[in-house]
Amino acid sequence: IADIKGGPDGGLDRVGQTLVVMGWVRTLRVQSSVTFLEVNDGSCLSNMQCVMNSDAEGYDQVESGLIATGASIWVQGTLVASQGAKQKVELKVDKVVVVGQSDPSYPIQKKRVSREFLRTKAHLRPRTNTFGAVARVRNALAYATHKFFQENGFVWISSPIITASDCEGAGEQFCVTTLIPSSREATDSPVRAIPNTKDGLIDWSQDFFGKPAFLTVSGQLNAETYATALSDVYTFGPTFRAENSNTTRHLAEFWMIEPELAFADLNDDTACATAYLQYVVRHVLDNCKEDMEFFNTWIEKGIIDRLNDVAEKDFVQLPYTDAIELLLKAKKKFEFPLKWGCDLQSEHERYITEEAFNGCPVIIRDYPKEIKAFYMRQNDDGRTVAAMDMLVPRVGELIGGSQREERLEYLENRLDELKLSKESYWWYLDLRRYGSVPHAGFGLGFERLVQFATGIENIRDTIPFPRTPGSAEF
Ligand code: 4AD
Ligand code: MG
Repeated sequence: IADIKGGPDGGLDRVGQTLVVMGWVRTLRVQSSVTFLEVNDGSCLSNMQCVMNSDAEGYDQVESGLIATGASIWVQGTLVASQGAKQKVELKVDKVVVVGQSDPSYPIQKKRVSREFLRTKAHLRPRTNTFGAVARVRNALAYATHKFFQENGFVWISSPIITASDCEGAGEQFCVTTLIPSSREATDSPVRAIPNTKDGLIDWSQDFFGKPAFLTVSGQLNAETYATALSDVYTFGPTFRAENSNTTRHLAEFWMIEPELAFADLNDDTACATAYLQYVVRHVLDNCKEDMEFFNTWIEKGIIDRLNDVAEKDFVQLPYTDAIELLLKAKKKFEFPLKWGCDLQSEHERYITEEAFNGCPVIIRDYPKEIKAFYMRQNDDGRTVAAMDMLVPRVGELIGGSQREERLEYLENRLDELKLSKESYWWYLDLRRYGSVPHAGFGLGFERLVQFATGIENIRDTIPFPRTPGSAEF
């Protein structure tokens, strides 16, 4: 359908051709002399209106109720100019075949159903306008991501999902346990956990074949190893956080894009983050016009103008110390009190980008070292690190990045200060022993990018199967 309707003049160039459409019935309107079928194949937002007279082959399936909302069908007909205001072309049906009928219990009958309800029907929600559009824009953002980095000479690296190291040092990890087939054990269950035990208690943290292992929170440390060999690299893969937060911007499983630049400092890092964001935003505006119009009308009024500004205007850069000053001077009352050294809460982040800077992305840099991860490079003042967070309206923190500590003694001292084990980071320290270079990188939460680019309020609606505390159905 995208192929036909995306052609010159909305498909009018193909009038007269015999075409086949395969898709799912969105609606069916039976009138006395003619039946209208709206068919969607997911290639675009638009349906193909199929117009059927009673002499069409297979028309009896309308009468018998086989052609109903949700059914999959195969329709052959002639493309004609449409009288309707909604579309330029429609299909005059010669033949229709029901491929798979749909039970009357099909839950997405009504034109509008709430997104809360659709989360309980995650297997069927891609058949709605909103979720179809989100899936296509998400796909376009992924494509543009690879395109941007490939065009700029970055090499894509696969970082591991199972790992023994905790990149962020925050202990927000899921551990991995081993399941072995039931045939080894007398049990009815298809699989059964055989955990290690310690003092009679199950020791889940020792169960990756006898070693501790976790799901990765970030591929950064692994990316650094390749950046100190191949220069500029990036990862794009799933990451996991065992934080029990029920918010509209946190998931337990999310995708992260993590570029790592060698021979680079924090300025190079912020420049790369800015160019990347502007590139992908421009890409969806240019390539997802119909879906973006849909979001502009139904999800967030004005999103197209907002994104055009992002793609064209300079971003604000603000040292953390100035950001704190700005927040302390703000007339607005915040729920969380602030002083130098505090981490910014989402209310502060949103105030800065939405109110203080009128919707412009803001890059805050040089955070206090105490609130940032061990690997960030210490600044000369001894109390801040070369870190940066990019804040955007509605979402808050979209990107977190830093220049990495490339000096062995500084890094070892920091690990000691934080009581992190130098032994377990031995290979990471090796990178500073053998040909260390200044390097920097960042991580962008892909679902937050989808939120930003579509206006969708809840992060649970930006990924096909959201994983949040207590929710892993589907
Ligand atoms: O700020 P974070 O924790 O930074 C890192 O993991 C670094 N190792 C990245 C790097 O420098 N290579 O996470 C980076 C981004 C955040 O800015 C946010 O967009 C996203 O990942 N993020 C989440 N997205 C969804 N759900 C969560 N629970 C998230 N936690 C972080
Ligand atoms: Mg962060």
